[in-house]
Amino acid sequence: MHLQLKKSLKDLRSKKEELRAVFDLAGNGISILNEKGTFLYANKFFQTMMEYTMEELYNESCISLSSPEYAQPSKTAVQRAIQEGIVERFRKICVTKSGKQINASMSLSYIKSTNEIVMITSDITEDIKYQDDLKRRINHEVKKRTQQYEIMCHQSRLASMGEMIEAIAHQWRQPLNSLGIITQGLRHLSNSENFDFNLLNEIENEMIEKINFMSETIDDFSNFFKISKEKKYFNILNSVKDTIKLVDIQLKNENITLNINIEDGVNLEFYGLENEFRQALLNIVDNSLDVLIRRKQHEGFINIDFVQNGNFLELSISDNAGGISEKNLQEIFKPYFTTKEDGNGIGLYMSKVIIEKNMNGSLSARNNENGAVFTISLKSEEQK
Ligand SMILES: Nc1ncnc2c1ncn2[C@@H]1O[C@H](COP(=O)(O)OP(=O)(O)O)[C@@H](O)[C@H]1O
Ligand SMILES: [Mg+2]
Repeated sequence: MHLQLKKSLKDLRSKKEELRAVFDLAGNGISILNEKGTFLYANKFFQTMMEYTMEELYNESCISLSSPEYAQPSKTAVQRAIQEGIVERFRKICVTKSGKQINASMSLSYIKSTNEIVMITSDITEDIKYQDDLKRRINHEVKKRTQQYEIMCHQSRLASMGEMIEAIAHQWRQPLNSLGIITQGLRHLSNSENFDFNLLNEIENEMIEKINFMSETIDDFSNFFKISKEKKYFNILNSVKDTIKLVDIQLKNENITLNINIEDGVNLEFYGLENEFRQALLNIVDNSLDVLIRRKQHEGFINIDFVQNGNFLELSISDNAGGISEKNLQEIFKPYFTTKEDGNGIGLYMSKVIIEKNMNGSLSARNNENGAVFTISLKSEEQK
């Protein structure tokens, strides 16, 4: 009996030593605490990590080794472990003997039979540093991109302004000429012997008409370029017509025909930023117009087709200017890509951002037998 007991005790001791050896080899801090959180045992890893010897640790607790703001949460964690049996991955900051702070993740497990707590401590300082660094780098990158995007928006607006002034110049040329001729007529009238008041009336009306037309043009343009961040319901056909109006005189001057074809049963009501949509469309139509003029296309045309494709409204803008080379098709939506000496290469990039990012649609380009085809596809779900 005595001998057997002795053997059992020896076995137990050697098991305990084995366990210690395993604990000491572990790559994490392992410690045993009493119900108050005071250390009863800590493996080598924990001692090294916290810079305390085992003798010193007997006088410390997992609460006293916490940074001040984590003292109370550590106490609560010990109590919770006792009540609930386990507390997993509780994060806190520990303070080593020399005052170094360590970000730690602790798991506590309560052993009822001995009223002790096993605590595993992992040093996650490096992980957190890595994560913080990653977060900082991502923030920096996002900020840089946002800035770039804002610059592009600004450039795009400047480019639009330039185009707008050019278009106004086109719209005004004819009425301005007329006004010039009328003014000369007035001098003639005042020099003649029989002053004709009827003719003066006619001239006055004509002048008012021209001036009204000119002021309407300015209104159209300034409405068009107003920045509005307010989403609203709009009829997409009306938007298309408003957009075309801005290049109407240019189309006439260049003998370019513009056709709008609408398939039966197309849903034209949309919800979103109408001005942005018109801007995107104008960029595309402007390009067609531009290429038709540059390539001196005889009987040039631009077609705008509305087709309902399941849940999607497809709006295709096509022309007969000869299209885009296969190589350039891959490039045209990239910012600053242009084949024009005086181009800026922002138009299509902005159109794509507006349609895809802001309207959840898609914008793509291809060629048909006559020229380029740009297709805007908008999901009908956008209609609310
Ligand atoms: N309808 C079209 N036909 C042929 N090429 C086109 C057409 N639309 C756009 N492109 C090509 O795409 C390029 C990029 O267009 P865009 O982004 O509007 O910039 P930009 O008009 O300043 O060149 C143009 O330079 C042109 O080469
Ligand atoms: Mg352009």
